[in-house]
Amino acid sequence: MPKTQLQEHIVLRNREIANIADIAVYTQHGGYETARKALTTMSAQAIVDEVKKSGLRGRGGAGFPTGVKWGFVPREIFPKYLIVNADESEPGTFNNHEIIDHNPHQLIEGIIISAFAIGANTAYIYIRGEFAYGARLLEQKIAEARAKGFVGKNVFESGFDIEIYVHRGAGAYICGEETALLESLEGKIGQPRLKPPFPAVAGLYAKPTVVNNVETLTNVPRIIEKGADWYRTFGTERSPGTKAVSISGHVKNPGNYEIPLGITMREFIYDWAGGMRDPNVPLKFIIPGGASSSWLTPEHLDTPLTWDDMAAAGTMLGSGAVVVLDESVSVVKAALRVDEFFKHESCGKCAPCREGTHFLVKVWERIDEGHGRPDDIELLSDVGRQMLGKCFCPLGDSAVSAVNSAVKFFRDEIAAQIK
Ligand SMILES: Cc1cc2nc3c(=O)[nH]c(=O)nc-3n(C[C@H](O)[C@H](O)[C@H](O)COP(=O)(O)O)c2cc1C
Repeated sequence: MPKTQLQEHIVLRNREIANIADIAVYTQHGGYETARKALTTMSAQAIVDEVKKSGLRGRGGAGFPTGVKWGFVPREIFPKYLIVNADESEPGTFNNHEIIDHNPHQLIEGIIISAFAIGANTAYIYIRGEFAYGARLLEQKIAEARAKGFVGKNVFESGFDIEIYVHRGAGAYICGEETALLESLEGKIGQPRLKPPFPAVAGLYAKPTVVNNVETLTNVPRIIEKGADWYRTFGTERSPGTKAVSISGHVKNPGNYEIPLGITMREFIYDWAGGMRDPNVPLKFIIPGGASSSWLTPEHLDTPLTWDDMAAAGTMLGSGAVVVLDESVSVVKAALRVDEFFKHESCGKCAPCREGTHFLVKVWERIDEGHGRPDDIELLSDVGRQMLGKCFCPLGDSAVSAVNSAVKFFRDEIAAQIK
């Protein structure tokens, strides 16, 4: 049992109830009562204020305060849109997947409340193309909610109309980036837009649009039901609440865990996930927030899992995906694998990312195959410098994380392999 207990789950709630995805079971457990309360007794502004007060931060990667983002949406412009980012393509991340497959009605309830709060009558769930089961399931669940009068015209007889559509992506990682997602939804090539303007002001079809992650919106029903003060009893002052974290790699018990924000990486790996798979093979490094994040080593094990503490340790909480790697892993192979992913997923719009990711893979490959050159470490770092902060969107920077981490922590291993 973990030493740091979670009093109750928020987003991975009702895991123990087998058929919670069935609307009859969900409503038996109080489901949709919060949406009813929100739409019939609260003003949109009161919901925005409560979410602001809760300190909920976006779970898609950047940790931007959700209520603040909602507050940017101009009230007087119509139509407005709510986009649910269900692209979940960051390697190592699989928590949205569980919410969609197991507890879809809590997500749909969150969408209804959030759409009402920002004044959007249309919501699109942009779901990763590979999630065929999840996409079909969501369509069925939206139909169930519609049959009960929770989706469609005049929901809960509140005068508010909400349509929710499921849109399947075509498997491009970049379409998780919010502006590329909007381009794709508009039927164009999924490539990022220049910001500003931000989507809150000019998003889908140039109209005010809020893009939020699946997990972010799944928090909303409980925040509105139990209040911001209750929500703040979880987590820390600047990272309130819980986080569904996916852990994989060389741990005994990989899977999704909902943790109170603020527990340390050590507690998470050893108390929650059961420690290293083989206790005789020590921990070598951790990719702590999805493939985009900079790596941590055993000396960082006491870093608390919060946005600020992870940033202070030189990395990020990211999408909540911890990949644990033991001493059996080759650093060169790991970095090559990560950069192959970014090369494959680079959308090609800007040269530093398109050419840079290609070049990084070429150099990692030759080191891995035993043809490394004496100046290859310097070359990798130099290519990284030419990419970092110079690409159109953060994908290019993400490819550099593996390079800089590998060189910073494992220079000797790479040099030995080149020799
Ligand atoms: C390359 C790239 C890929 C991304 N992929 C995802 C994704 O799969 N899911 C997601 O929710 N956010 C993803 N994001 C972050 C989104 O752009 C955006 O910040 C997020 O959906 C906002 O929702 P939130 O405020 O609820 O976190 C990605 C960002 C980048 C730069």
